[in-house]
Amino acid sequence: MHADIGRILISREQIDRRVGELAGEIGRLYADSEKGLFIVCVLSGAIIFVSDLIRQLPMKMRVGLLAVSSYPGKTTQAQPAHVLQSFDLDVTGLDVLVIDDILDTGGTLRVVMDRLAAMRPASLRSCVLLRKSGKARGGLEADLVGFDIEDVFVVGYGLDYDGLYRNLPVIAVLKPELYG
Ligand code: IMP
Ligand code: MG
Repeated sequence: MHADIGRILISREQIDRRVGELAGEIGRLYADSEKGLFIVCVLSGAIIFVSDLIRQLPMKMRVGLLAVSSYPGKTTQAQPAHVLQSFDLDVTGLDVLVIDDILDTGGTLRVVMDRLAAMRPASLRSCVLLRKSGKARGGLEADLVGFDIEDVFVVGYGLDYDGLYRNLPVIAVLKPELYG
């Protein structure tokens, strides 16, 4: 698997440091939350980020899962997103923080935020590990961002290409010959 990497964009150490900083920011943002924080993990790309992040949060919190259609197979172009399934997502009246792996065109986050807003949470914010620069997102932005990256297709730390490479501990660009 490591032989497939073209170049490393973000190292393990950089990820660890930034995840710690984000946990600190989230801790401060929700320090006074009366109902408690409810994290919504967008499947499947955010699983590693969420699991690292929540173990650094000091307050009581809950997690729910939301599966959103992702890039089918060997595609690196965004497709229209729709919610496939949700688990434990009763967020009415709660302080909700949506966590996704990457903000590209914003289609996924838009669908997720609309779905959750309809449940009338007390507050609703979003946090993404990565944000691709230079993309028009029609006014949609994430509240918290880990890293701004160039507009390249990345894998690792939860992000996949054709279902593979989620278990890479770094964020990387594959060798060009591997893209079908
Ligand atoms: P958007 O809907 O265009 O913002 O794309 C967001 C979703 O597409 C993310 O949740 C990812 O699942 C996937 N995605 C976008 N860019 C990449 C990438 O560079 N690598 C892997 N997945 C990506
Ligand atoms: Mg995703």
